[in-house]
Amino acid sequence: MALILALESSCDETAAALVRDGHIVVEERVASQADDFAEWGGVVPELAARGHVGWLPGLIDKVLGDAGLESSAVDAIAVGAWPGLIGSLLCAVTCAKVLALRWGVPLIAVDHVQAHLAAVHLGRDKIGYPLVGLVASGGHSHYYFTAEPGALELLGGTIDDAAGEAYDKAAATLDLGYPGGPLVDRLAREGNPKAYRLPRSFIRDEAIKLSFAGLKTALLYKVRGPKGRDPLTLDQQGVRDACAAFQDAAVDCLATKLCQAAEARGVRTIAVGGGVACNSGLRERLTAEATQRGWTLLLPDLVHCVDNAAMIGALAHFKLQRGELAPVDLVPLPTGAAGPRK
Ligand code: KG4
Ligand code: ZN
Repeated sequence: MALILALESSCDETAAALVRDGHIVVEERVASQADDFAEWGGVVPELAARGHVGWLPGLIDKVLGDAGLESSAVDAIAVGAWPGLIGSLLCAVTCAKVLALRWGVPLIAVDHVQAHLAAVHLGRDKIGYPLVGLVASGGHSHYYFTAEPGALELLGGTIDDAAGEAYDKAAATLDLGYPGGPLVDRLAREGNPKAYRLPRSFIRDEAIKLSFAGLKTALLYKVRGPKGRDPLTLDQQGVRDACAAFQDAAVDCLATKLCQAAEARGVRTIAVGGGVACNSGLRERLTAEATQRGWTLLLPDLVHCVDNAAMIGALAHFKLQRGELAPVDLVPLPTGAAGPRK
C-alpha cells in the first residue's frame, strides 16, 4: 500500500494528485492556463512557467487538505520530468525535489508520454498485459507495444504533425479558437463527413505510420482557396461539415493503425492515452473495432486523457515497486530521459 503525491507541469496544466497503489485517485486538482493562452493562439512558455510557480503550492495544499491527510501520510513524491517545455518542467521538478528532501521520502521521475498510457490503470485494479497503445496528444502520435507499465517499445507513429496539433491547426483554419481539438470534435458531430474528400495518408500501407500534414493542408486549401489565403466564407453548416470530414479522416487513420499494430503483434488488448483520446469519434470507432474483434479496449476517463497528475502517480507506483528512484540532483529535459546533473 503506497500513497504517492504526484506533480505535473510539463506544458500549460499545473496538476497535483494523491494516488494510492497506482490505481485509486484519492484527490486530484488541475489548474489549466488554456483560457489565458486562447488570445495567443498557443502556449507561451515563459508565461506558462510563471503560472506553474503560482499554482503548485496551493494545489498541493488543496489535495492534502481535501483528503484530510498530513504530509506524513505520503510515501513518495512523483513528478513528470520529461518531455515538455523546459521552463514548465523545472517548476514541478524543483518543487518535487524540495518536498522529497524535506519529507524524507523517495523521488520518482516519470516520462510524461509513458504516463499517458499508464492512465488506463486509474480506476482499474488489474490490467492484462501485454497491450498495444496509442499516445495521441498535442506533441505525440505514436504506437507502442508494452509488456508492463512504462516499458514502451515504439512501433511507429507520425512522420510530421501530432494528431492534436493537426486538430489545433484545423480549428485555426476554421477560425474556431484554441485549443481546437474539443471544438472540432463538438462541431463534427453535427456535420456531414462526406461533404469533403480529405486524404488519409498511409492508410493502405502496412507500415505503422501516420501523417497529418497532407490532411491539414488539404482542409486549408478546400476552405480557403488554392493558396490557402482566402477569407473563410463557409456558413455555420459548412464549418460543421468541414469539421466532420476532418474528424472522419483523422480518426480513420488513428484507429486503423492501432488495429494493424495490435494484429501485427498478436495482442488482444488496445489502449489510448493523451488529449486526443478524449475525441468522441475516436472513442466510438475503437469501441466498435474492439467489440467486433472481441478485444479489450482500455480508455482512460476524459480527465485522465488530457494532462493530469494522477497518470504520473499511476506510473510512479510501478516504478517505486521496481525500485526505479530518481537521484536528488535530477534535472528535467525537454526531450529524452531526465537524469542526474552532468
Ligand atoms: O495530452 P494533452 O492534454 O497535452 C499534451 O501533452 O500535448 O493533449 C492536448 C491536445 C491538444 O492538441 C488538444 O486539441 C487535443 O489534445 N484534444 C483533442 C480533444 N481534446 C483535446 N483532440 C481531438 N478531440 C478532442 N476531443
Ligand atoms: Zn500530455
